[in-house]
Amino acid sequence: KMKKHILVVPGDGIGQEVTAVGKKVLEKIAEKFGHEFTYDEALIGHAAIEAAGNPLPDETLEKMRASDAVLFGAVGHPKYDNDPSAKVRPEQGLLKMRKELGLYANLRPIKLFDELLSASSIKPEILRGSDILFFRELTGDIYFGEKGRENDGDTAYDIARYSTYEVERIARKAFDAAMTRGKKLMSVDKANVLETSRLWREVVQRVAKEYPEVTVEHQFVDSAAMLLIKDPRRFDVVVTANLFGDILTDEASQIAGSMGMLASASIGDGTGVYEPIHGSAHDITGMGLANPMASVLSAALLLDISFGLKEESDAIINAVDLVLKSGVRTRDIADADTPKDKILGTDATGEALLSYL
Ligand code: NAD
Ligand code: IPM
Ligand code: MN
Repeated sequence: KMKKHILVVPGDGIGQEVTAVGKKVLEKIAEKFGHEFTYDEALIGHAAIEAAGNPLPDETLEKMRASDAVLFGAVGHPKYDNDPSAKVRPEQGLLKMRKELGLYANLRPIKLFDELLSASSIKPEILRGSDILFFRELTGDIYFGEKGRENDGDTAYDIARYSTYEVERIARKAFDAAMTRGKKLMSVDKANVLETSRLWREVVQRVAKEYPEVTVEHQFVDSAAMLLIKDPRRFDVVVTANLFGDILTDEASQIAGSMGMLASASIGDGTGVYEPIHGSAHDITGMGLANPMASVLSAALLLDISFGLKEESDAIINAVDLVLKSGVRTRDIADADTPKDKILGTDATGEALLSYL
């Protein structure tokens, strides 16, 4: 029996809708396995700007630090997307949270549930058996370098920056994971052009010496983007920089069928944050159509990684599998063969999940 305190930070848009389901699943797990989870909520993103004028209020950060794990939704609002001149933006809250909590490793598992083979736009015979684990570096790169705009308003710059220790620590995490899986690691960079990538490759080559059993492959990011769609089974563990990892994992979501299926774990020095890889999805906000599986699978990662509750985590993954086997689909993973009465909204999908727990 475990006592833990979980902070729920839904954020904006469909973050609110899917995190509610993720939380219900955690509550059900606690009840079923006899754990005592307590919960609190905090604001981030547009919701926090509206309430406190700040996308990451100190109170939220303090609550995060004081909790055993954070279940996070998404941030973002069309108001800022359409106004490039806005100085205060929801996304700043997310980036500051990552930096302040030292969340340098973002694990993004790309796991294809067999039932979703036909939901992908990639041919089933190419996809079958795909199972990839991305390690996206999360607190460095062009996201956190010096940025600005020259006085005349005509030229803008963002500076990409990596230090040896930043590459080393994410590389070690990825090699450690490779040792527990297929002992294959692909490092993705742009070392034919970028200085940060040449440092990246040098450091990965050096760390590789500590893991003689792991087969290491270096790929340029453009080629890696192509190979993901051509031959996803060639990939096992992938380690890459912040920006490349952001882009490649949205691409890789199509291997799993939808952005709505992809969970992630952001870990580092302190409290871990568990979040879908998708955003606030303005196009479907408030319509009850969002796929809650990414949040639910993030809750599963939370139990496994932050609490060491593997059986509980597997119970969630199994429930997701059973819901899919029952034929239930949210719209994003439905196809022409899905019967109309099996296409459910966010809450009904959540209820189906709870019934299998
Ligand atoms: P998005 O991930 O929000 O949506 C991309 C597409 O995928 C949309 O068509 C959306 O409807 C669909 N989609 C995403 N999640 C889904 C789900 N659970 N179920 C069904 N369909 C789903 O990306 P975007 O549209 O480029 O960005 C929207 C906003 O979200 C922006 O303001 C952006 O800055 C923000 N964003 C935030 C995060 C985050 O908080 N981690 C991540 C990405 C984007
Ligand atoms: C993500 C998002 C964020 C990122 C944005 C909203 C800052 O796309 O979590 O993948 O680029 O890291
Ligand atoms: Mn992204």
